[in-house]
Amino acid sequence: MIIGFFGKGGSGKTTTCFQFLQNVRDEYVETFAIDADHNMDLSYNLGVEHPEAYVGQPKTLSSGIRFMAAGPHTEEVFRGDVCSHYLFRPLKDQLRDRPRNHNELVVVDNTAGMDSVGAGIPALLDVAVVCVEPAIHSLKVGRQVADGLKRTQTQTVIVANKIQTPEQEQEIRRAFPEYTIVTVPLGHPGKAFHGLHTAVRNLI
Ligand SMILES: Nc1ncnc2c1ncn2[C@@H]1O[C@H](COP(=O)(O)OP(=O)(O)OP(=O)(O)O)[C@@H](O)[C@H]1O
Ligand SMILES: [Mg+2]
Repeated sequence: MIIGFFGKGGSGKTTTCFQFLQNVRDEYVETFAIDADHNMDLSYNLGVEHPEAYVGQPKTLSSGIRFMAAGPHTEEVFRGDVCSHYLFRPLKDQLRDRPRNHNELVVVDNTAGMDSVGAGIPALLDVAVVCVEPAIHSLKVGRQVADGLKRTQTQTVIVANKIQTPEQEQEIRRAFPEYTIVTVPLGHPGKAFHGLHTAVRNLI
């Protein structure tokens, strides 16, 4: 099962991805974490000190999790000489034609916003998780991402993250009426992994 985490910057992609992986990994024979964000926050959460050594080269961490990074931003990208989409290449190479194995959990922590959607990553996944905060810009980007995922017919779950009041949860439910919503309270990012796992499994 290949699950990608999407959403606006700061919406909780990396945290949700990491918590999900840590909490459900025992239910799978193999786990594979891919840090597809060039800021490499998932690498940090997993205790990987030199993610550059894992760019396009999966290796097993001491925790038993297999790990790969898509790569840090490069000078060529910063200078504008090449498009940042070339950084998605190792991710695409890993996931394209990957045999679907229900004993394997693959999580992909994506770059913020529409970039990874535009780069064609959703077509390589079984399920997408879109993280949305109760804030106008997060809702807007979440909606754009969800609509982009529809175009590739990627099954999608919405995580309503950092929720403090029932009104905030309702706001997100109203904005995404056609989706399964999993609510994660502010201050308890690891709380909803069970509900998220069930929601994801129900879609595949
Ligand atoms: N449910 C939550 N409760 C409290 N804090 C949270 C929760 N989820 C995430 N955070 C915090 O919000 C911040 C942003 O989270 P995170 O880094 O996971 O977002 P992101 O979408 O991966 O951001 P980026 O776009 O920069 O990669 C972090 O400081 C994280 O600890
Ligand atoms: Mg992140």
